[in-house]
Order: sequence, then C-alpha cells, then structure tokens
Amino acid sequence: MKRAIVLFVLGIFPLSQVFADEMAQRAAESRAVVKEFATELKTELKRALKEGGPVKAITVCNAVAPAIANQQSKKHGWRIGRTSLKVRNPANAPDEWEKEVLERFEARKKAGEDPARMEYFEVVEQNGKKLFRYMKAIPTAEKPCLLCHGSHIEPEVAKELDKLYPHDQARGFKAGDIRGAFTITQPM
Ligand code: HEC
Repeated sequence: MKRAIVLFVLGIFPLSQVFADEMAQRAAESRAVVKEFATELKTELKRALKEGGPVKAITVCNAVAPAIANQQSKKHGWRIGRTSLKVRNPANAPDEWEKEVLERFEARKKAGEDPARMEYFEVVEQNGKKLFRYMKAIPTAEKPCLLCHGSHIEPEVAKELDKLYPHDQARGFKAGDIRGAFTITQPM
C-alpha cells in the first residue's frame, strides 16, 4: 500500500511539474507578445497624434491595431487581439470566457489591485480541443486614451468616430479604468 502511494506520488509529481513548466512558458511567451503589440501600437499612435492630431490618429487604431494583431497571429500561429466589456468595434467583442475574465478583472480592481499588473491564464477545452488562453488588462491612461475614449471628446473626433463606429460603447472612460484587455489563444 505504502509502496503504491510512493510510486503514485513519484509518477504524478514530475508530470504536474512538466505541466506547470509548460504553463509558465506559454504565459511568458504571451506576455512578451503582448508587450511587443502594445509597444508597436503606442509608437504608431504617438507618431500619428503628433503628425495629424486625434482625427488622423483614429486610422491608426482603426487599421494599424488589427493589422498588428493579424501579423502577430500569423507569426505565432495563435489568435491575438484586444477586447473589452465596452467595445468600440463590435469585431472585438469578447466571447464567454473573455467576458468572465474581464468581469473578474473589474472585481480585482475593486478589491484594490493595480490593473497595470493584471493577467489571467488557464487551459480550457473548446470543441474537444485544448487551448491555452491568456489575457492581460489594459489600463486607461489620461493621455492620450481619453482623447478618444473619455467623456469630453472633441466634436471633430466624435464625428469621425460616429461615422466609423455607429455602435461605439468605448466612451466615458476615466484615467485608471480598465479599458479592456489583450487576449491570446494558443492551440496546444
Ligand atoms: C485617436 C483616437 C484613439 C486614441 C488616442 C486611443 N484609442 Fe483606443 N481605439 C480607437 C479606435 C478607433 C478603436 C477601434 C479599433 C478597431 O476598429 O479595432 C479603439 C479600440 C481600442 C481597444 C479595443 C477594444 C474596442 O473598444 O474595440 C482598446 C483596448 C483600446 N482602444 C484602448 C486604448 C488605450 C488604452 C488608449 C490609450 C493608450 C487608446 N485606446 C487610445 C481610438 C483611439
């Protein structure tokens, strides 16, 4: 009996360790890709704001953000994007799993956690396939986010947003709010 338990523990422990290592590895890779995505987007956004102001910069978010996401998705063979509980582009709407994670991020923020460091990952089974899913919260900064996501949006900016996003929900945010999250799905 004792021997069986020892064998059982010896058998299980390395396996769970292998699994934990793989999770840590996948999370680290996701974190790195999110950093790359965020940095590239911020650089493009800043440049566009400087060159043409917020109306022009809308095209960066409109065209460049999905382009970076697509390019990175192809490069890694993952699904990479941005989502939110209040989306501007309906194509970014969260699925059930993402919605739950975003709601938990909101609860964690209420409990005092800093959104800048919030992330969550787990392995889920969807349609008989195992997937590693990862999300990292995106905090709202006063500058430049509120230019296009705040409560006082310049009329010419609002006009352009109305034209492109008739179902826009992504206004009225305050600095420090969770604007949304990066989301990554890796096949296993
Ligand atoms: C110049 C205007 C502008 C600024 C400044 C801006 N955004 Fe956006 N944001 C947009 C547009 C346009 C979209 C829709 C992009 C799309 O079609 O996928 C968007 C979409 C998003 C999304 C994807 C979810 C959704 O609502 O569709 C997130 C997350 C987001 N923005 C966060 C931010 C953060 C954080 C900042 C500040 C660092 C910021 N944005 C600054 C215009 C802007």
